[in-house]
Amino acid sequence: QSAPLWSGRFSDTPTGELELFGASLGFDQRLWPQDIQGSIAHATMLGRQGILSAEDVDAIVGGLRGIAADAAAGAIAFDPSVDEDVHMCVERVLTERIGEAGGRLHTARSRNDQSVTDSRLFAKEQAATLYEAALDLCQAILAVSREQGDAVMPGYTHLQPAQPVLFSHHLMAYFWMFLRDTVRFKAAWEAADASPLGAAALAGTTYPLDRRYSADLLGFSHVIPNTMDAVSNRDFIIDLVYACAVCQMHLSRLCEELVDWSSAEVAFVEMDDSHATGSSIMPQKKNPDFGELVRGKTGRVYGDLVAILTVMKGLPMTYDKDLQEDKEPMFDAVDTVTGSLHALRGMVSTMTVKADRMRECAHEGYMAATDLADYLVGKGMPFRQAHGVAGRTVAYCVQAGVKLQELTLDELRAQCDLFDEDVFDWVDIDNVVARRDTYGGTGHEAVAAQMDLAVEKLAAA
Ligand code: ARG
Repeated sequence: QSAPLWSGRFSDTPTGELELFGASLGFDQRLWPQDIQGSIAHATMLGRQGILSAEDVDAIVGGLRGIAADAAAGAIAFDPSVDEDVHMCVERVLTERIGEAGGRLHTARSRNDQSVTDSRLFAKEQAATLYEAALDLCQAILAVSREQGDAVMPGYTHLQPAQPVLFSHHLMAYFWMFLRDTVRFKAAWEAADASPLGAAALAGTTYPLDRRYSADLLGFSHVIPNTMDAVSNRDFIIDLVYACAVCQMHLSRLCEELVDWSSAEVAFVEMDDSHATGSSIMPQKKNPDFGELVRGKTGRVYGDLVAILTVMKGLPMTYDKDLQEDKEPMFDAVDTVTGSLHALRGMVSTMTVKADRMRECAHEGYMAATDLADYLVGKGMPFRQAHGVAGRTVAYCVQAGVKLQELTLDELRAQCDLFDEDVFDWVDIDNVVARRDTYGGTGHEAVAAQMDLAVEKLAAA
């Protein structure tokens, strides 16, 4: 166990548990690809500016590439009792391998700009992955919606039968949610797309750096114009975790419905065997576990957002060690949402949709009552009065134990003499749905137009 890189002015250093308490290597080791990428860019820039010799740069870049290959093969030991964080680990291994040149890499750089450069590279990569994963789920939802074209189901408010809707209309509501999530992931990508590298500890450096050049090498569109802001800003993490929290909330809502729809009593869908689990004691069980798990994981993503917001709230300029707490919430949020999006995509694309059962339920619950009132409005009755007649007709049905569609004309006329033969067609469930053909409505043509728009949006995404 050797002394830390910074131990020059120390006569003793933290050891044992305390050393481990301060270490971030246990979690920031996953940033080794970004750390090496950032170091290669930094060294290359130092060479171009004449700050490092070409030989040193060659040795450094070659050494870093070797470490990357070994790390990819699992041959680099990340041990928090040896190195405090990923930056010191890579630098130590590099120096062991190439000697003195390794010690020149950290010229004009601090771990403060280095660490947040790594995090920004990681955040951009993850935001892009999440963007694609949300789009994939949108595609899956659209495909199932198309397949289920005419399937009618009960639409609910207050979880009570309200008006019948197309199953595709219901499902497409989620399409738009996840499409909005792609916009948030894109915004999070943009927030991360600026280079802090070259800010050094907080004040910039005395070396003639070309920050634009290292930013170019790393694919950053912008260079952060204030070195203090560069090392202390974590808005990009908050933006990403926020986008994750909203997306996970959307996923949780969809899961709530899938779990509900999977119940024996509702039975609108059945999860495919490949996306369900059984019970260790009850042989008959088939549980929509993954939906429940995604719903349950929502709390931790909200927790990640609260955690990072709270880390930031009292921080004075510039780098404070509190900022080491920025990474775990980001890692946890992106991992959780990536896994959840993937699970949902699989569940939605493989589930069996029980259209007959939905249609049967769409006939229950007197959901054509609004249309019954509208019918009377068509015959000249004011809506408020028609609402009363339809309400009394429903009460009659509840008493008699029949559906609205099963009433005889005599029974209807006993409620109001404006009813005629054409009322039966009028309250037919498919007609009730088809009639709602205003823009964005559940009518078959309106939903078809909605899905066409969805295709256009996907093509433009
Ligand atoms: N492991 C640290 C972090 O993740 C790196 C930056 C440390 N800088 C410092 N001045 N101690 O935040």
